[in-house]
Amino acid sequence: MLKMVVLISGNGSNLQAIIDHLKQHADINATITAVISNRPDAFGLTRATQANIPTIVIDHKQFTSREAFDTELINTIDKLQCDLLVFAGFMRILTPEFINHYLGRMINIHPSLLPKFQGVNTHERAIAAGETEHGCSVHFVTLELDSGPIIMQGVVPIEPNDTPLTLKERVHLMEHRLYPEAIALFAQKRLSMQGNDALLDGHPLPLQGQQYQLKEK
Ligand code: GRF
Repeated sequence: MLKMVVLISGNGSNLQAIIDHLKQHADINATITAVISNRPDAFGLTRATQANIPTIVIDHKQFTSREAFDTELINTIDKLQCDLLVFAGFMRILTPEFINHYLGRMINIHPSLLPKFQGVNTHERAIAAGETEHGCSVHFVTLELDSGPIIMQGVVPIEPNDTPLTLKERVHLMEHRLYPEAIALFAQKRLSMQGNDALLDGHPLPLQGQQYQLKEK
């Protein structure tokens, strides 16, 4: 059984998508052992409680340094059963100590077709750049922000009359399909990280020049 700890800071709609997917697919051998938030008011904590998942708040404002916060985070996670750390809208930059501690066991979802549009305001920036496609990427977390090996991408069109908000909503729907798919592959032990590569069944992604991609239906 793949044991996951999900880290959030806010709404937690991706967390909800993972919870719902696991409920609907009993054959996926994975469970969420805890949800951790750095914000006490994150709505995702309510979602977790409603799903009977233990919640933990580690409020970053109570710590004097990033290092102290991350040390507490490590101590907390290491007391839990955790094979995979799933970042789902966790809005904190992590220290190298934290990342090295869990290297190869952390995944994140980012709202762009990486390596395009790392960082914030990705929907605005994709529209401003005149892109015709946008989307989201599930990737391993490494020392460089939003630059770890890409596992899967979900592609959506950018329509001529899109605003950042309409585009964000379309990308979110794709995120909610993509993240559970990636987790299912982990549960089947098909994914791993080696250096700068994400491996699927031991072979580096992308396979045959194709990213492991979902397209909008
Ligand atoms: C998502 O857009 C995700 O790509 C980004 O943070 C957002 C989290 O949304 N990393 P939610 O809290 O899951 O609704």
